[in-house]
Amino acid sequence: MATTETRLDIDLGDHALWTDGPPYELFARLRAEQPVHWSPNERYPGEGGFWSLTRAADVHAATRDFKTFSSERRGIFLVDDFGLPLDMQRLQMISMDPPRHDRMKQLVGKAFTPKRIALHEEAVRTIVREVLDRFVDRDGCDLAVEVARPIPARVIGSLLGTPEEDDARLVHWTNVATAFEDPEVRSGWDDTQTEFLQIVAYIEEVREARAQDPGTDLLSALITAEVDGEHLEPFEIATFFILLLAAGNDSTRATYLATMRALIEHPEQRQALIDDPSLIPAAVEEGLRCFPAFGFMGRATTEETEIGGVTIPAGDRVLLWYIASNRDPEVFDDPEAFDIHRAGLDKHQAFGAGGRHFCLGASLARMELRIWIEETLARFPDMALDGKGERMRSLFLNQWKSMPVTLR
Ligand code: HEM
Repeated sequence: MATTETRLDIDLGDHALWTDGPPYELFARLRAEQPVHWSPNERYPGEGGFWSLTRAADVHAATRDFKTFSSERRGIFLVDDFGLPLDMQRLQMISMDPPRHDRMKQLVGKAFTPKRIALHEEAVRTIVREVLDRFVDRDGCDLAVEVARPIPARVIGSLLGTPEEDDARLVHWTNVATAFEDPEVRSGWDDTQTEFLQIVAYIEEVREARAQDPGTDLLSALITAEVDGEHLEPFEIATFFILLLAAGNDSTRATYLATMRALIEHPEQRQALIDDPSLIPAAVEEGLRCFPAFGFMGRATTEETEIGGVTIPAGDRVLLWYIASNRDPEVFDDPEAFDIHRAGLDKHQAFGAGGRHFCLGASLARMELRIWIEETLARFPDMALDGKGERMRSLFLNQWKSMPVTLR
């Protein structure tokens, strides 16, 4: 319930505002005029509305204050129940608060340090090359479907130790879970339960096989790992596995597509990268800044609190909008422009704004995106858009569903 007069009388949950992607102009107005804003979320009756934070400083402060802004109380989406009840969501670390969250992160964090991730660099390059090689004789393709799906799926599959022939169905299962706002991807709430149980059954099979014969993959590590002297329950392993699949697939796919699109639209910047590939890490950061893969992460207040003179009651949902905070003119000059040469790129919040839940896969994502863009530019320096493409219908996933391109 809003406790201040709503000046910008809009519902950010209204999909009509999002048909051409995130409404950046509207977010600029909110940031300037009403940085703590209430939306009734009428699309989901019974779920209640949500507050929006759009300034980088507010997103940062709320992220650091996990005692007031809980990930566990109402999960991270714009609804409590997207087919998966809160009790089940809370088995995933992204929807846990400390101390439970800290224990999980400590357990799995070791596998994701920059040093450990660097060991996978050659394997990632081989995966990227193998997929891009499929297109050497082709004039065009759907970059979103034919390239941006298989690559991250194989990267995360190879880390987890699942076979390549299972990639497509694992991606399908995770899409049904995270792209729940798009009716083309998911027809109804019940789908999620069915798909979720299928994926749990799948993981259970793999888990049993690994328990008999452990390997060096991440899944084996999770099975044998101990937290406070206890092993993870099978269900905890399954839900973490699903989180890794979803976080690892949706995110790098979205960032790659949006960054490639921006490079096609700014040929002089693309040429600069072709001439000097050492600039590619900066292009990756600018892609992350301009087009954060996740539009927001949600929190819920544990007690009444005040931000910028606005009182937020206890138990309300608060969305931390990275797609707005990453374009905050207090942090970035000319924030709406895509510019691989800009200063201060380390200040973006695409992986979260610091704090306990900061993205576990940031090093992996950075390495994967760098290699992926390097290899794409080396093979297809003249790639061009071949039609408008199609957006995922979602506030949470900032993603292209289809992106037809010509390759030469
Ligand atoms: C471009 C790529 C990526 C982006 C933009 C991204 C973004 C994010 C964001 C915004 C969060 C939540 C931060 C918060 O609530 O404070 C997060 C958490 C997380 N990400 Fe990523 N991510 C990416 C890639 C990956 C990859 C490749 C993996 C793993 C394979 C991964 C695994 C996770 C996990 C496990 C969490 C939960 C961490 C926690 O709760 O402590 N992410 N990510």
